[in-house]
Amino acid sequence: MKGYSRAQIALHWLTAVLIVASWITHEDMGRALRARLVEGADATPLHVPIGIIVFVLVVIRLALRFWQGAPEPVSGSPVMRQAAIWGHRLLYALMLLAPALGMAAWFGGIREAGELHEAVSNALMLVALAHAALAIWHQYWLRDGTLTRMLRPES
Ligand code: HEM
Ligand code: HEM
Repeated sequence: MKGYSRAQIALHWLTAVLIVASWITHEDMGRALRARLVEGADATPLHVPIGIIVFVLVVIRLALRFWQGAPEPVSGSPVMRQAAIWGHRLLYALMLLAPALGMAAWFGGIREAGELHEAVSNALMLVALAHAALAIWHQYWLRDGTLTRMLRPES
């Protein structure tokens, strides 16, 4: 496979935007969870549906990736290529785990899952920030077209 498909590119940017939206809407979730579990409150903060959509989109993304494949890293030594592949696997794992733990806390009432959810979500944001910085470095310093192929589909 030479590049990412139109659907893979659309899903990449949509998930990125919605993960940032999950991040922005997280405030007060600790209180909302306590209200739900202790007082039986039935309000649903925006954070919940946004996070669930992220989970669903990531599952679709992974199915598409197994079906369509993904291009090899554009440039770099064998070690750097492996780092890119494992970095992307780590991002996928965190993108699944963060909302899954959120759902376990919200729907399953598991308090410990809520604490883990916070830690995993923080890790996801840090790794995603590093990932975005690396993508920009590839594009503008190494000039190897890494960012271009996440913007322009190629079959
Ligand atoms: C990628 C998706 C998500 C991200 C990045 C994310 C991020 C966060 C962050 C950063 C917090 C910490 C808030 C604090 O400072 O107390 C939080 C809390 C929380 N989130 Fe999410 N979240 C996501 C998806 C979800 C989903 C799908 C649900 C439930 C259906 C959910 C439910 C909760 C709950 C219940 C808390 C409070 C946890 C606690 O205080 O123990 N989140 N989320
Ligand atoms: C929450 C934010 C983000 C997440 C979770 C994320 C996640 C991912 C993942 C998992 C891949 C691997 C795709 C695959 O091979 O199936 C990827 C690829 C890519 N991402 Fe992101 N991304 C995010 C934001 C960004 C941003 C802001 C940029 C640009 C500044 C960016 C640029 C790229 C590029 C260029 C690729 C292709 C890398 C390659 O061809 O080797 N991403 N992203």
